[in-house]
Amino acid sequence: MTGVIYQIYPRSFQDTTDSGIGDLPGITRRLDYLADTLGIDAIWISPFYPSPMADFGYDVSDYTDVHPLFGSLADFDELVAEAHARELRVIIDWVPNHSSDQHPWFQAARSSRDDPKRDWYLWHDPAPDGSPPNNWLAVFGGSAWEWDEATGQYYLHSFLKEQPDLNWRNPQLRTAMFDTIRFWLDRGADGFRVDVAHFVMKDPEFRDNPTAPGSDLMPRYGPAYETQDHVHDKAHPDSHDVYREMRAILNSYDGDRFAVGEISLDDLDRWAAYYGDELDQLHMPFNFTLLTTPWEAAALRRSVEAVEAVVPDGGWPNFVLGNHDTPRPVRRLGQAHARIGAMLLLTLRGTPTLYYGDELGMDDVDVSPGEMQDPWEIRVPGKGRDGCRSPMLWNPEPGRGFTGPGVQPWLPFLENLDVNVATQLDEPMSMLNLYRALLEIRRASRPLRLGSYRALAHVPGQVYGYAREDQDETVAILLNFGDTPCEVSLAGHEHDVWLSTSMDRSGLETGPLTLRPNEGLIVRDPPVIQASGTSG
Ligand code: NOJ
Repeated sequence: MTGVIYQIYPRSFQDTTDSGIGDLPGITRRLDYLADTLGIDAIWISPFYPSPMADFGYDVSDYTDVHPLFGSLADFDELVAEAHARELRVIIDWVPNHSSDQHPWFQAARSSRDDPKRDWYLWHDPAPDGSPPNNWLAVFGGSAWEWDEATGQYYLHSFLKEQPDLNWRNPQLRTAMFDTIRFWLDRGADGFRVDVAHFVMKDPEFRDNPTAPGSDLMPRYGPAYETQDHVHDKAHPDSHDVYREMRAILNSYDGDRFAVGEISLDDLDRWAAYYGDELDQLHMPFNFTLLTTPWEAAALRRSVEAVEAVVPDGGWPNFVLGNHDTPRPVRRLGQAHARIGAMLLLTLRGTPTLYYGDELGMDDVDVSPGEMQDPWEIRVPGKGRDGCRSPMLWNPEPGRGFTGPGVQPWLPFLENLDVNVATQLDEPMSMLNLYRALLEIRRASRPLRLGSYRALAHVPGQVYGYAREDQDETVAILLNFGDTPCEVSLAGHEHDVWLSTSMDRSGLETGPLTLRPNEGLIVRDPPVIQASGTSG
């Protein structure tokens, strides 16, 4: 998968029923935008399954259907057919770690200790004093164990108590879950984004996690969660078998079916292990390092190269700049650096994933307490994800092209009326036109799509420079993270500037190459590249 993935949060993309919530026919309606206006290669759609929506669809109550809010299976089929007609691939979210507590499997499991599905979830007796069996914590706050009065045991939930963890050590559960991926593959899905893929297997002895600041922490998790070293409640080595089996199923279908896993591990060797030694597990574990690395040249270079160093031979890197769990690039980095981020995302070696609305430079929306939706914010204040999930902005009209005029969207619209597709298409230097230009250049340039990566030596400290090379073609990318101009000494006196993040500069330039403050440049066929470090 060397193309560009575009993530759609379906509640927020396009509403066709005036419910204030987006739906699958809405995505179908916007496929021309995705295929032609932008020119991406695949869409990943966050969950649209039946769900009580305790975690907005990441609590699935039926793995093989569509929530009526989002449409029907027929709408999904139509979406796939229309996407394929435009050569767009369709990747759907698959949530194997936990179901909803309203899933019939869990309802059966909690009905009695003797129910045949009891063991499809993770139950445990209390500690002698009646407290939870171990110290494991839920990502969304509090103990990961919930007491079930009726059957006198605790069940495990790594997220909300409404999201009980499935027991992947039970063979019937495993078969039932793999049947759910066959269901979607048979309907034409091109692949899956696997939710918290590394959580599926836990320590079978349920040992306490050691308290340790250090490895495998995700900075965005709450402070209590970060006091533990999560060695026993996630990324257990047995997880790898699950993905070997999943890969074998994908391989048994025609047409390069694909899996990308949500795997957040600071230990990059453990992270890369999900490619599989024989490249027989996930096609890619999502790489979130651009979300957490300090935003300056040297740190980013180190971070990119740390990833390059662990991706196995024959494996393919990937980069993420935004998603539905993280403040948007404009919020994190500001407008100018969000433009540098766009250039970085679309020129590094690997598959970029672009989050809907980031191509407009959408900021996070500020949500008042009364408008708050995210259960994480309600449980761990400050962790909320509503800000980055506000509706897509198609035009400046009432309803913003997302929903009907006068309809209340499920989250407020961003107020800035200039941020929308229609307006930005007419502004030559808009963020949308920058993304379009980057996507076009990427399509046109074999080095950018497939070439190797080499860092450029002898660039000023505030610049991150790298070359992408393929056969005898080279493209250089120079990103100035500083507030001051600086010169970069590429050999030769003529430079073919392909694109500037400011979009006011292209063509042949003579003399030394000067980067303006906070500017990124793509330079075509630089005469001589001084480089340090190679990969690819
Ligand atoms: C990761 C997803 O990205 C997030 O949105 C969700 O809340 C958790 N997994 C739980 O499924």
